[in-house]
Amino acid sequence: MAHAARLTVDPELVVSPVHRRTFGSFVEHLGRCVYTGIHDPGHPTADADGFREDVLELVRELGVTTVRYPGGNFVSGYRWEDGVGPVADRPARLDLAWHSLEPNTVGVDEFLRWTRKAGVEPMMAVNLGTRSVLEAVDLLDYCNGTAPTAWAGQRAANGSPEPYGIRMWCLGNEMDGPWQTGHKTAHEYGRVAAETARAMRQVDPTLELVACGSSAPDLPTFGTWEREVLTETYDQVDYLSIHRYYEVHGDDVASFLGSAVDMDRFIDDVVSTADHVRASLKAEKRLMLSFDEWNVWYQSRAASVPPAGDDWPVAPVLLEDRYTAMDAVVVGNMLITLLRHSDRVTAASQAQLVNVIAPIMTEPGGRAWRQTTFHPFAQASALAKGSVLRVTPVSPTFPTAAHGDVPSVDAVATWDEESGTGALLVVNRNPSDAVELAVDLSRLGDVRVTAATTLHDDDPYATNTADDPDRVTPRDRTDVVLADGHLTMPLPAISFSTVALARA
Ligand code: AHR
Repeated sequence: MAHAARLTVDPELVVSPVHRRTFGSFVEHLGRCVYTGIHDPGHPTADADGFREDVLELVRELGVTTVRYPGGNFVSGYRWEDGVGPVADRPARLDLAWHSLEPNTVGVDEFLRWTRKAGVEPMMAVNLGTRSVLEAVDLLDYCNGTAPTAWAGQRAANGSPEPYGIRMWCLGNEMDGPWQTGHKTAHEYGRVAAETARAMRQVDPTLELVACGSSAPDLPTFGTWEREVLTETYDQVDYLSIHRYYEVHGDDVASFLGSAVDMDRFIDDVVSTADHVRASLKAEKRLMLSFDEWNVWYQSRAASVPPAGDDWPVAPVLLEDRYTAMDAVVVGNMLITLLRHSDRVTAASQAQLVNVIAPIMTEPGGRAWRQTTFHPFAQASALAKGSVLRVTPVSPTFPTAAHGDVPSVDAVATWDEESGTGALLVVNRNPSDAVELAVDLSRLGDVRVTAATTLHDDDPYATNTADDPDRVTPRDRTDVVLADGHLTMPLPAISFSTVALARA
């Protein structure tokens, strides 16, 4: 018999507005994300700039709002100047982060043209691993400059007389990670980040700047890193970035399904640390978090091992994880966590967009398709409008080795008073048991269900492929019952469901 769970949707329990930047993504010069991912001049759908129109269509359908670029670990060895000007004159360089050859065919101008076609906001990262203040200011001037400078003149000469007006800038990437080219101590990084931010603000005080937080909570520096970096940078930055990836370790599926418990705690811990620094500095401002890398990533698999030795390929097959139905449920749960923390997490980027741990896959010159993880992202981005509402499910639990007893049901709701529409996003992350969910919607007034879907596969390891691209997709539900403001809905084990609501 199915277990029972219940929750109430109350429009007065507002966490914050839905932030559109929650639905950001990430394009890094890594593997086939750029080359043969978004850019493939020989592809039948390629436009005049070499961008794949089939991929652009999928990016729009995914509902991506911001895209972080150009890395990731790549940025810490990047000279942005290599990627501007006539393509034939651009140098090829070693990419130390991914042991690849970077041809620089795509650079800042191409990427920014692509963001316009995709209808997304760019989020630019500067190299604070192997470069410093001046190169960051030069890039800012190249992109946004309005004064008659050499860099702004070069941008115009390269085809973009109008400034790009990029608002959000990341001050380096994962500078706490020993794997990072130019890795720094918290004090060293805090100083260069503060000085870079100060200089960038001399150009434009209204920029939104993101300092590097921790790459993972299990690093020994976690906690002290945030405190030291923010002590140096607090007045100069708006966001602290955090990153987190999950995978199944061994056969511990239960802990994997409970990953969002860890993500909730990670966010809470970083918020506490940021608020501790705020208190010590007696600062008014409250810092926001940019969760600008999150996803399921099977880091321990061969697909994530970069080339070695004399092999420096262009766009090698790297980090091309094929996602399962179960992975999609965990991704859906991570989106629930991000939305639930919208009072402090006001920007996020799923890593990454195409081919590299991505919701969209491509064949070079060939087909493109949606991975299982495409669907929860697209649904959440399309449905979440208005205000995020806190819901507190009362749910059975299941035991996990990593997180203790985990509630089977996790959920978040949104409600848009203006249009009178709302949404419930809900997972049953129990590895084996279905749950009968009861939802009290009576506080929303008279509402009706306009659509309800569930993503589930009897085989939790089922994937989508180029030949079978729709094996795992959300299926319409016809068994949702709504009577007198009370909804009931069975949730299969390992499933992600959505309910769209409208004022009756
Ligand atoms: O997204 C893949 C890599 O993960 C990024 O380059 C890096 O920032 C992180 O370690």
